[in-house]
Amino acid sequence: TSFMLPPRIADSIAIVAHRGASAYAPENTMAAFELAAEMQADYIELDVHMSKDGELVVIHDEALARTTDGEGLVKDHTWEELRQLDAGGKFDPVYRGEPIPLLREVLARYAGRIGILIELKSPAQYPGLEEKLAELIEETVQGQPSDSSATPIMVQSFDLGSIQRLAKRLPDIPRAALIGTGDQPLLTDTQLSDIAAYADYINYNYEFLDWELVDRIHAYDRKVMAWTLRDSQDSERISRIGVDGIITDYPVWAYER
Ligand code: G3P
Ligand code: CA
Repeated sequence: TSFMLPPRIADSIAIVAHRGASAYAPENTMAAFELAAEMQADYIELDVHMSKDGELVVIHDEALARTTDGEGLVKDHTWEELRQLDAGGKFDPVYRGEPIPLLREVLARYAGRIGILIELKSPAQYPGLEEKLAELIEETVQGQPSDSSATPIMVQSFDLGSIQRLAKRLPDIPRAALIGTGDQPLLTDTQLSDIAAYADYINYNYEFLDWELVDRIHAYDRKVMAWTLRDSQDSERISRIGVDGIITDYPVWAYER
């Protein structure tokens, strides 16, 4: 690695580089994932949509305009069209030409090297997406040494139905339920125990998290990660309430300064 890294603040908290090290490089690109790996994050987080011809592509929005030089929706473009887009120049001209990655390429490059947290953004919109994901993960895991538990592949979604289906289809792949948007962010005990039946993690909007909620989740023997930390004071608070992971644009915050 090209960085000299100071000691980690807490070894027990997994550091997840949100869309890669997205504070420093264009989100959801190989450049951001590579930087996260250099910063020795425990996981990269990424978002998946599907192209017109059924390829799983790594991009956050269903529309192209915010992060690329394309227009319209991902689902209305073939991979041949998408692969020619620039997903770096809007972040910073020095990244011009950085492409949208395929999920397959990210898995090939990083599985076994760093944890990979795959978010299915809107699986209901893409018939066949879950099955394609399952096949791709199976292929990837088969090619890995038997003990790759230090670098897990994990799947997460706000679509809890999708997480339930993946629990059946890929029982050995850890799953996280994303919680904390909308007007009812606090889970009742009934909701918590329902989710605990199919998810290994409950990944919560950090704004609603305190030690009590973390404790309630741990009482169901489930883990909790907080998203998305972009402020160092919030990050300090969250690192003291017992969370198992922090999803942040700034993986360097894992280190003492
Ligand atoms: O990892 C959780 C977080 O990524 C969810 O929000 O919009 O950044 O995908 P978003
Ligand atoms: Ca995400």
